[in-house]
Amino acid sequence: MSAPIATLIVQRASLGETPHFDRFDVPFEPGQSVLDGIRYVRAHFDPTVSIRYSCINANACKECMILVNKKVVYACTRRLEPGEMTLQPLPNKTLVRDLVTEIAPPDERIG
Ligand code: FES
Repeated sequence: MSAPIATLIVQRASLGETPHFDRFDVPFEPGQSVLDGIRYVRAHFDPTVSIRYSCINANACKECMILVNKKVVYACTRRLEPGEMTLQPLPNKTLVRDLVTEIAPPDERIG
């Protein structure tokens, strides 16, 4: 029997580009987070897949908020699942790139 796979379907685009989806198969292990899966993708398939995070798994920085299967989650606390998971940026924020959106309040932004 083959090892279970989590297929991450990731929305890709920079600001102003038409989004498309890339699929990445990552090995599934119980207890992993969606962020773990994205970090696996960056390390093994495509280092340009973009997501913002700082604390990795403490649910402290609040920077990894994305949509997983159309629901707002923290990528570091949402568990990876075998099968397909669709990852998208927050829809109500300005897109920076891929899963990264502009989350800083306007008066705290640089430039
Ligand atoms: S990486 Fe900090 S809350 Fe998710």
